[in-house]
Amino acid sequence: TILILDFGSQYSHLITRRCRERNVYAELMPCTTLIKDINFKPKGIILSGSPYSVYDKDAPHVDPTVFELGIPILGICYGLQEIAWNLGGEVTKCDHREYGFAEIQINKIGGEESVDALFEGLGEEMQVWMSHGDQLSQPPPDFHVIGHTRTAPYAALAHNTKPLYGIQFHPEVTHSPRGKELIAKFILSICKCRQNWTMEEFIGKEISRIRDICGEKGRVIGAVSGGVDSTVAAKLMHEAIGDRFHAIMVDNGVLRLNEAQQVNEMLNKDLGVNLTVVDASDLFLSRLEGVEEPEQKRKIIGNTFINVFEEEAAKIEAAADEEEKAGAAAKGRVEWLLQGTLYPDVIESISFKGPSATIKTHHNVGGLLKDMKLKLIEPLRELFKDEVRALGRLLSIPAPLVQRHPFPGPGLAIRILGPVTRDQVNILQHADSIYIEEIRKADLYDQISQAFAVLLPVKAVGVMGDQRTYEQVIALRAVQSEDFMTADWFVFPADVLRRISSRITNEVAGINRVTYDISSKPPATVEWL
Ligand code: XMP
Repeated sequence: TILILDFGSQYSHLITRRCRERNVYAELMPCTTLIKDINFKPKGIILSGSPYSVYDKDAPHVDPTVFELGIPILGICYGLQEIAWNLGGEVTKCDHREYGFAEIQINKIGGEESVDALFEGLGEEMQVWMSHGDQLSQPPPDFHVIGHTRTAPYAALAHNTKPLYGIQFHPEVTHSPRGKELIAKFILSICKCRQNWTMEEFIGKEISRIRDICGEKGRVIGAVSGGVDSTVAAKLMHEAIGDRFHAIMVDNGVLRLNEAQQVNEMLNKDLGVNLTVVDASDLFLSRLEGVEEPEQKRKIIGNTFINVFEEEAAKIEAAADEEEKAGAAAKGRVEWLLQGTLYPDVIESISFKGPSATIKTHHNVGGLLKDMKLKLIEPLRELFKDEVRALGRLLSIPAPLVQRHPFPGPGLAIRILGPVTRDQVNILQHADSIYIEEIRKADLYDQISQAFAVLLPVKAVGVMGDQRTYEQVIALRAVQSEDFMTADWFVFPADVLRRISSRITNEVAGINRVTYDISSKPPATVEWL
């Protein structure tokens, strides 16, 4: 295991992912974690970046005993400065914050040919991503320079005798093209981690863990949405405890076209999961009537979801209790609630909080447990999305579902910019399904991280035959993103856009104009609301 100590950098989770991608288990913990409180023995430690400066009054610092463990430590950006701060180096403010690409020259050490183990095989120079306001002005004693840039003479350091390393740049981001290899060098060659973290191993262990937790009797209920996470979680539960798991899908009226039927077909018929679909669209749409404010929409949908889910759960509980009383072949009472929580959510809740602000509330079912007296089971809480996808493939979940773009809990309600009505939902569902269909036909779906249509609450003038029209506008969005924290808009071939636009304006009543959103995140967000 690699322990990643998080000092609040927005990239910390990426470091964890890079290790996992090399089949090395890595766990992220807040930088304030005390080594004596960790219940495993890491083979190496990575110190993340941070929005702080090491000399700030409230700057976070690592438990100094990490330096006595004798295991390899790699400091990234602030992590490097933290090593210097602890071991007697000097850090100063740069005149200008450095943000962007830089070339790092790898220093020759010892003989002509040799470079430090961290850079072995990575060439003489590398393009890297920098994002820092401070930099090292004096390395700590007993360290030597293993890489430098034009502006940073101490861009990479290593200790003369101990396995301690520090780098000023960010190898974890995709803007450092060979950064992944550098992290691999650290965890494999230097830390000598075993590459035994695979989904094949995970399935077996997790199924027996679920069986141990759930015991011989007792049922589990859980919500499914048709998305990857809840489907994989449901299938895993089904594999572990069969019909003692009961899935509930709530049709909130703001799903994509035919979504509820499709989920039913797939989960129930193809995967054999015990599923109830509840059509609560009237209730949701009536509560959403006249509401435009996005956070208000999210709140209404979240709360209504809880009401409907609890009602359905109560029915399942009542039926289970009846069966229990009747005795024969009873599967026990409902005791557990399944949640498809992923590791990024866990990280979000445990990570060291620098000065950050909530832009949007994304919690969809967070309130479920408050009223229900159920215990929580979260089989995916150690996994990143790409790991969940790999797991889904192993569980024979159909490829189109495994590769599916994310879909927000509040659904089309946050893609209809004005008030949500059944009529507006129908228009958007129709336009969205044409958009996605054409993307799939052009074989572009897997190159895009998320694509969807947005219905604007404005009317524009158009012409059809000899008639003037006055109708609504559809905006198309497609982005590529690693983790949705940042995103770039997708460059479509013009003919694909032309076909999509022509089909939407011809086939969707109420739309006479289509635009393509060319904003990146930041400063825009992925969704329009
Ligand atoms: P933004 O718009 O914040 O979106 O750039 C980033 C990712 O989050 C999704 N998103 C949501 N997901 N409930 C969700 O489950 C929400 O309220 C919500 N809002 C945004 C968005 O689709 C994108 O994948």
